[in-house]
Amino acid sequence: MPDQPTPAQPPLFTWEFAADPYPAYAWLREHSPVHRTTLPSGVDAWLVTRYADARQALADGRLSKNPAHHSEQAHRTGRVGIPGERSADLMTHLLNIDPPDHTRLRRLVSKAFTPRRVAEFEPRVQQLTDRLIDSFAGRGSADLIHEFAFPLPIHAICDLLGVPPEDQDDFRDWAGMMIRHGGGPRGGVARAVKKMRSYLLELIHRKRADLGDDLISGLIRASDHGEHLTENEAAAMAFILLFAGFETTVNLIGNGLYALLRHPEQRALLQDSVAAGETGLLATAVEELLRYDGPVELATWRFATRPLTIGGVDIPVGDPVLVVLAAADRDPARFADENTLDIARKDNPHLGFGHGIHYCIGAPLARLEGQAALATLLTRLPDLRLAAEPEELRWRGGLIMRGLRELPVEFTP
Ligand code: HEM
Repeated sequence: MPDQPTPAQPPLFTWEFAADPYPAYAWLREHSPVHRTTLPSGVDAWLVTRYADARQALADGRLSKNPAHHSEQAHRTGRVGIPGERSADLMTHLLNIDPPDHTRLRRLVSKAFTPRRVAEFEPRVQQLTDRLIDSFAGRGSADLIHEFAFPLPIHAICDLLGVPPEDQDDFRDWAGMMIRHGGGPRGGVARAVKKMRSYLLELIHRKRADLGDDLISGLIRASDHGEHLTENEAAAMAFILLFAGFETTVNLIGNGLYALLRHPEQRALLQDSVAAGETGLLATAVEELLRYDGPVELATWRFATRPLTIGGVDIPVGDPVLVVLAAADRDPARFADENTLDIARKDNPHLGFGHGIHYCIGAPLARLEGQAALATLLTRLPDLRLAAEPEELRWRGGLIMRGLRELPVEFTP
């Protein structure tokens, strides 16, 4: 028997790929698991797609997150990191630093952003969720991205941080700018990020004089061996909490609802379970949605500061490495029936929140919001259905995140 010819590599980073990247990732996992490619921005980078390699890379201290280690080429294009962060002087946040600075800042923020603070926030998340559904429930149709998935996390994080209600519409505008243009023109985003930073610095200043029980006050109060966050560090921290906690959660709700609407038997199981007042299946469902079509397609940038080998491939010093969480989470070597949505999946150590020292610090809040959003929507609008063909839906084209631009639905008012 002659060897089967290797099937041609499906194209990466086209519109077709954005709508369904999973066949291309399956090809990479199989034929070129540590794959060097040129990104649409022109930067050459390694894509890591197998689960075992991805986990190793995420925890490898030879891969730095410090932009000082960016390759010449990455510096030239400037298309690395969060739009606007450089010009707005917001670089010293958790996703851009290595130990020992990372260890210090992470410990300080962990003192303020505790699981208990998140648990106490549950009634507020429920109230926000209900209010948003009230605003369209009588109409019989809605766009669940703009009217639900988008506003919920931004108001939740603003509340948690202690941004007064009268200022939250500004945040909604800035966040809208960032999400609309994240993968596109950067000028407007840079302006929005600068405005956000000036606002946060002023808010930190005001809170310092009048500490409350919000997270920004907690950040100001947090100390470790007598060390405090500087105002710049506190502003960068508030910014990364907003930034990392916003579009990700929009996509958890958006991608999650979309997956459920396309798998009626899974959705019915979840709906029945929630109606019966159970919470177990809701919890595993959110984990499975994070695995099956998670919000963060590629983990954020890493750069080789020392020579290393991933999956048998030598990575030269200075090269950018991008860990493809979406590909790792469908690796058949780790997940049985990798392409099947199984909301009761038990063995599910997905990488949707990352792994290692940069593991998502907002995971408890994301889970809380995801569970509240899905459970409440399915309970209050039990006959929710898609109002568009899947091929009509548009996906946002950014590199790191994966999410829908819109999610039109219909239901009985
Ligand atoms: C880090 C995913 C929600 C704050 C991360 C990372 C991932 C992730 C994959 C690691 C990135 C890397 O290693 O390159 C998600 C997902 C979310 C979510 C899928 C929603 C479903 C949130 C929320 C917050 C948040 C709600 C805060 C309010 C952060 C922060 C980091 C982070 C601050 C950096 C931690 C560090 O570097 O030490 N997140 N996230 N995230 N996330 Fe989340």
